[in-house]
Amino acid sequence: MTTNLGLPVGTTLDRFIKTNQDGFPFASGELSQLLRDIALAGKILNREINQAGLGNILGDFGETNVQGENQQKLDVVADIRFTRALKNGGEVCAIISEEKEEIIHLNPNSKYLVAIDPLDGSSNIDANVSIGTIFSIYRRKSKLGTRATEEDMLQPGNAQIAAGYLLYGSSTMLVYTTGDKVNGFTYEPSLGEFFLSHRNMCIPENGKIFSINEGYYYEYDDNIRNYIEQCKQRKFSARYIGSLVGDFHRNLLKGGIYLYPSTNANPQGKLRLLYECNALAFIAEQAGGLATDGRQRIMDIQPESFHQRTPLFIGSPKMVEEVGEVFKQQLSGRVHS
Ligand code: AHG
Ligand code: MN
Ligand code: MN
Repeated sequence: MTTNLGLPVGTTLDRFIKTNQDGFPFASGELSQLLRDIALAGKILNREINQAGLGNILGDFGETNVQGENQQKLDVVADIRFTRALKNGGEVCAIISEEKEEIIHLNPNSKYLVAIDPLDGSSNIDANVSIGTIFSIYRRKSKLGTRATEEDMLQPGNAQIAAGYLLYGSSTMLVYTTGDKVNGFTYEPSLGEFFLSHRNMCIPENGKIFSINEGYYYEYDDNIRNYIEQCKQRKFSARYIGSLVGDFHRNLLKGGIYLYPSTNANPQGKLRLLYECNALAFIAEQAGGLATDGRQRIMDIQPESFHQRTPLFIGSPKMVEEVGEVFKQQLSGRVHS
């Protein structure tokens, strides 16, 4: 018996990566190794998360990160685990992490760069609710053997060569794309392996789930408030975990839209372009979905700083298009009034 990719049932992540790499005769195997390094760090972090209540690693770390947000102990642990795995693996020349202000320089002889949110959904850690890790992989523009530059790290999302996320939920999953469909792997803890469980993931074209923090209702523009009212009139389900990875993953499977718009206090929203939005936008598009900031494609935004924020509308294509229409109408209303 084989899967529809011609792979035997029970395909491990390693075998899947190898089979794909064999399809590219000039592939050097470095990207494959990099994906394996991320999976390894994910396994290690998964173990720590599962023991968090026992291991004195719940709660505040007592510091704030570059965004001025409280760091949880697990944020710091996750940052260390991923940085260490990427350093030891040797395939990465530099990292941008949510938890560090500046570029972390690793192996100057490597061609890949990583942007990472080591732990997404920090506010949910202590409550034993799903959390995640989000990563984007880019190829450097600067010469091999030199230090990576700011320009290397400020590439638009359309230059990503791979992206993915780990979801530490009721089971742990790794979902990634290298620009050729999206595949999901579920972790089997007793074997210590990720197995291919979700082949060629496709998001439903339309959905009935909307995910937004409605607590900020009066902070949003009228167009967003109207959209929320429309969702309610159509009896859509409101689902908001507060872990972007978890909310995105559910909508990917079931169909829906995730919205994090501008607010009065934060005109650029909250989510970070480089290590939250771009990766999920790449996955959404590869799965047949869309991701915009309301006006343009997320992956076409030219980043200007490492920790830049952007509004995000992501999910089922029809739903994201609908929100785009709302913005267009608002724009033309302004022009004509
Ligand atoms: P992080 O834990 O990496 O800082 O990300 C938290 C993000 C995202 O996961 C979530 O969807 C969003 O913050 C929730 O924000 P609000 O509490 O403002 O809704
Ligand atoms: Mn995050
Ligand atoms: Mn985070």
